[in-house]
Amino acid sequence: MAEGKISLDLRTSDRRLIGRSGLDFAQWRESYPELVTALTGPAPGYAELPDGQLTGLFQWAQTLRGRCDDLLLLGIGGSGLGARMLNCAFVEPAPNRPGHPRLHVVDNVDPRRLCYLLGELDPRRTLVNVITKSGSTAETMASFAVVREWLRGVLGDDYGKRVVAVTDPDLGDLRALATTEGYKTFDIPPEVGGRYSVLSPVGLVPAALLGIDARELLAGARAMRTTTGDPDWRKNPALALALALHQHHQAGRRIVSVMPYSDGLRDFALWFAQLWAESLGKRRDGLPSGTEPYGPTPQAALGVTDQHSQLQLYVDGPKDKVVWLIEVADIGDDVRIPPQSEEYPSLSYLGGRGLGELLRAEMKGTVLALLRAKTPSLVLTLPRLDERSLGSLVYLCQAAASITGKLAGIDVYTQPGVEEGKKTTYAYMGRKGYTERLADDERLNAETDPNLVSEA
Ligand code: PA5
Repeated sequence: MAEGKISLDLRTSDRRLIGRSGLDFAQWRESYPELVTALTGPAPGYAELPDGQLTGLFQWAQTLRGRCDDLLLLGIGGSGLGARMLNCAFVEPAPNRPGHPRLHVVDNVDPRRLCYLLGELDPRRTLVNVITKSGSTAETMASFAVVREWLRGVLGDDYGKRVVAVTDPDLGDLRALATTEGYKTFDIPPEVGGRYSVLSPVGLVPAALLGIDARELLAGARAMRTTTGDPDWRKNPALALALALHQHHQAGRRIVSVMPYSDGLRDFALWFAQLWAESLGKRRDGLPSGTEPYGPTPQAALGVTDQHSQLQLYVDGPKDKVVWLIEVADIGDDVRIPPQSEEYPSLSYLGGRGLGELLRAEMKGTVLALLRAKTPSLVLTLPRLDERSLGSLVYLCQAAASITGKLAGIDVYTQPGVEEGKKTTYAYMGRKGYTERLADDERLNAETDPNLVSEA
């Protein structure tokens, strides 16, 4: 691997090793004419984010240095997973960062967690970052209503100084509320959807507050962007990833396990799973009736932890999976295992070796075990886990989702299934204009057999 570059190694997906359902690289060449058109289409909404100007954001974040102990982020799906990914990569390994707050992401409405947090945090030392593009998502708005009351109870009408809202520049109730109550706000560009927005204020506001280098994230994304239009997949890892996962999907390998061998990338796997599922799980309108919906099922795993959980299934289970492993080339200082007495064979061979060395050996072992079982894998190598590399990886994945959408003939930027769920929630919670949906619920209840329940 060339110094500082991200590489995607496809050798362990090759049909010559995996058999008929492996990748046929010759076929990729045949697809080139169609792909060149696809790659030169209009730029997606997220493509301009890496050029974002950050001066105003940094100046504002600087005014808060040392003034808050906790950052309470309210946001779900694409409005919450990006911050979790960044926090996991850069803050979790060293959580006590003087001058920077601790992050708490509330992306569920299970009352237990919020109740606990509001009991623990001090509203005078907490900054609330509410993030919703639509400004109306039930989970985020409900949590915000509770948190707002909590802030107001202690801080009175001045409470708005402890709120920063990230939302659409014009639309939605959060925008209206922010204007009335005087919150600090940052805009989500209208053309950028949730899961493509981590490089907008959705991810960059929490990043700046947490002391994560947002400039480097964008620099990494810019570097990757220059490659994503190249029709030569050997110079375009986004294209290579898209082609590989698309061809595996078409060959019946519809489960994509993303398995980084790095604790810092644990939440990247969750972010990727949402990007892939919500972008690519779609009906294909306009195709002959009966055409199957498109849909790779992403599964987040963690190496080596899930070697003792999922790997058995990947090796011996149904041949419907492809495993995408991610390694970090330079893990920094290794931890040496002290020399061990020969008396204990399960310890002695480890003495003098490094934990990082073991991590690498385990990943190599997984690749080999998968290969022997004819389960295809892909291996992506990040030069190191820093902001620049992660920014590049994020852009690579977003571009890969866009390219896959073109290959599959679907619009990756919509989420009609999610919107349906949101509307039905509104109905159950009595929101005006949505309650007629409950007729479906009554009809369904009338059709179901009440005896189909097991109780102990
Ligand atoms: O990726 C998406 O578009 C979704 O996951 C949204 O981010 C999620 O539904 C939250 O929406 P909003 O930001 O409008 O609250």
